[in-house]
Amino acid sequence: MQFRVGLGYDSHRLVEGRRLVLAGIEIPFDKGLQGHSDADVILHALTDALCGASGLPDIGRIFPDTDAQWKDADSGTLISQVAAKVRDAGWEIGNVDCVLVAQKPKIAPFISQMKTNVARLLSIEENRVNLRGKTGEGLDDVGAGLGMVSHAVALLQKKE
Ligand code: CDP
Ligand code: ZN
Repeated sequence: MQFRVGLGYDSHRLVEGRRLVLAGIEIPFDKGLQGHSDADVILHALTDALCGASGLPDIGRIFPDTDAQWKDADSGTLISQVAAKVRDAGWEIGNVDCVLVAQKPKIAPFISQMKTNVARLLSIEENRVNLRGKTGEGLDDVGAGLGMVSHAVALLQKKE
């Protein structure tokens, strides 16, 4: 087997008057992430991890927001398209894992729904998807609640 690992990272500011959408699931909270479309920080980091592992350019270069086609495109659509490109290149997704750093809210109650949704978007089994939240322990800007950050890895495999 050939293997490739990819790293993904993303961050968005929290602002009032936006919905909070994480891994495609709407979470009740008094703020939401700022950015194009849904600003889904988990899906963006996972997308970049898949790009990194497969050698694709990063998400912003594959789907430039200067192109009307991708402006405000749904993050779920983008990650599904990247997963299709990865598969077209002969790779199978071994697993993906993501850590969201967010002081609030607790995402633990939504993890199961999020995993199901990511598995659906990537067309893989749910046991290949892992997600969890960490608070950041009140440190730095994320700890102060100014935004959220996520880190992701993806493993791809292909028969030699
Ligand atoms: O206990 P430790 O310092 O390792 O972690 P923490 O950042 O204090 O978070 C404790 C637990 O809360 C985590 O293990 C997650 O299960 C949960 N958590 C969460 O669901 N959503 C967050 N945004 C942060 C933490
Ligand atoms: Zn993003």
